[in-house]
Parts: sequence; C-alpha cells; structure tokens
Amino acid sequence: MRKNIVAANWKMNLTKKEALSIFEQLEEVQLKDNQEIIVFSPYVFLDALKQKQKKVKVGAQNFHPAPHGAYTGKVSINHLLDLEVECVLIGHSERRMLFNESDELIKTKIDVAVENKLEIVFCCGEPIDIRNKSSHCSYVLQQMEANLFHLDHEQIKQISIAYEPVWAIGTGKTATTEQAENMHRFIRMCVEQRYGFEISNEMSILYGGSCNATNSSELFACENIDGGLIGGASLKAEELCKIISSL
Ligand code: PGA
Repeated sequence: MRKNIVAANWKMNLTKKEALSIFEQLEEVQLKDNQEIIVFSPYVFLDALKQKQKKVKVGAQNFHPAPHGAYTGKVSINHLLDLEVECVLIGHSERRMLFNESDELIKTKIDVAVENKLEIVFCCGEPIDIRNKSSHCSYVLQQMEANLFHLDHEQIKQISIAYEPVWAIGTGKTATTEQAENMHRFIRMCVEQRYGFEISNEMSILYGGSCNATNSSELFACENIDGGLIGGASLKAEELCKIISSL
C-alpha cells in the first residue's frame, strides 16, 4: 500500500524544548494505516525525541558516509543507528548548493543508507533558470539517474522521493498544483520505466517547497502527490497538525 507521508524538515531551527513540544503534539495525532509522520530533526535533539517516540518516525537531516574516523565535527550513520534513528534525508538542495554535495557523494550516501536498512527521503528538483527554460523534467530525470537509478529492485523500496523545486523552497512561492502534479506524474513514470509498475505505484512521492496549511489539501488531493516535505510550516505544531489532517 502506498504511504501518505508528512515529513517535517526542521533544518537548523528550534530549541530542544520547542522540538519536544512539537513532537509530543505530533504523537497525539490520529493516523490511518497508510499514513506516516517523519521528523527530520537537528542531530542534537535526536536522542531526546527517540525517548518520547511512540509512532512518529525520527530522521536525521544528514550524515557523513564514512562509518567512523578522523572527521572532526561529523556524524556517521553508525551514530544514527546507535540512536535507532529510522530515516535519513538525502539530496536536499540546500546540501547540494550550500555544501557543494556532488551527485557522486549523494549516490554514495544513498548506498550507505540502503546498506544500513534506513528509510530514505531523496530530494530532487530544479532551480528557477531550468524551469524558465522548460528543462525541468530532463533535469529531475538526470538527478534520479545520477543518484538513484543504480539501485536494484529491492533497494529502491527503501526510497521515497521528495520533489522540491528550488525556487519554491522557503520563498512562499509554491508550485501550482498543476506544476507539482505534472512533475510527480513524470517522476512516477520514470520510476515505472526503470523498475516496473508495481514499484512505481507503491512509491511515495512528496511535494516540498512552501507547502503550508493553506495549500496542502489541494496539493495532497492530486493523484500522484502522496504528502509533503515541510520546512518553515513544520516549526509550529498547530500548522503542522493541520497539514497532516489534509493527508
Ligand atoms: P519550505 O522548505 O517548506 O520552508 O519551503 C521545504 C524544504 O526545504 O524541505
């Protein structure tokens, strides 16, 4: 059964107290069998969230692909496994652009996370100049081919895709439902061509980029939009709960 997911990307925000307060309110939300909430938290709150966890999945926003070693300031997947973190976010445009993450590094991180049996939310999406040239579909296909499509038919089942047009992230300028649904349909078709109907039909494809309680219902009602990856609007429990209720 395809899962409907609301994933919060808290980025570099919140105090521990605020994070725990939002998390506790999320734990009270009633979910149907096919619905899931994931919180991608700063590392420093992961342990505290795991202590409070009932059903909300706890995810990390990043990790270093080496298992251990002399990498001052870095966090490895083994640290995440030690805390029993269930999910990781890979390929976010802020990591690609602000931290120069290459396709090669993203692919390696995907392999490490797959090998360690973590759920992965893989982000892709085009910058504004690519959208303006109407090259967004080939751009996103190239990202999936470079980062993802080397996985085999079993491994790909650990992946959910988040389509996040870069021009919509944190800008208040969300994609129209038509733009979003067209891209989601295209992504599912690419997955189908590579992995077949069953896998593509089961895959959750989330929309991210200025998704909020006002636009989430319309977006999530689209056939190929299975929830959202929420940044700014995930920092307030009330708004996030409203978004979840529109799943
Ligand atoms: P936003 O961020 O909801 O603040 O646009 C989404 C994201 O970066 O994942």
